[in-house]
Amino acid sequence: MPATANAQQADGERLFRQRCGTCHSPDPGQNRSGPHLAGVIGRAAGSIEGARYSKAMRESGVVWNDEALDNFLAAPRRMVPGTTMTVGVPDAAQRAAIITYLESQ
Ligand code: HEC
Repeated sequence: MPATANAQQADGERLFRQRCGTCHSPDPGQNRSGPHLAGVIGRAAGSIEGARYSKAMRESGVVWNDEALDNFLAAPRRMVPGTTMTVGVPDAAQRAAIITYLESQ
């Protein structure tokens, strides 16, 4: 892997721990206040057994790919009105790093 990709992934892991880790585990089977995010790419929104979801998320019909994640993280309630996840990541480069990290999980 080119050094820049490695650096971006490391950055993404650090950002994930700081910005998402309180509420989301990267390990399957471990739900915090938010669902775990192992294998989130390609997953239907609101589909983790045992996680606490809003009705809005369960009924959103979203499938998480790069673009959907980027939109959601930029402004969660704009994409899924009524979601209980209210914190976003306004910085596009930080979103990209976090998404790269999630793809590697
Ligand atoms: C304060 C707690 C909190 C933080 C911080 C947080 N989330 Fe969330 N997240 C939630 C909750 C709660 C939900 C469920 C939302 C719902 O059901 O409406 C959620 C849902 C999600 C979902 C949808 C998952 C699914 O199974 O459909 C994704 C993707 C997500 N969060 C990504 C992130 C990322 C990436 C970060 C860090 C940038 C982050 N979240 C930060 C609480 C949080």
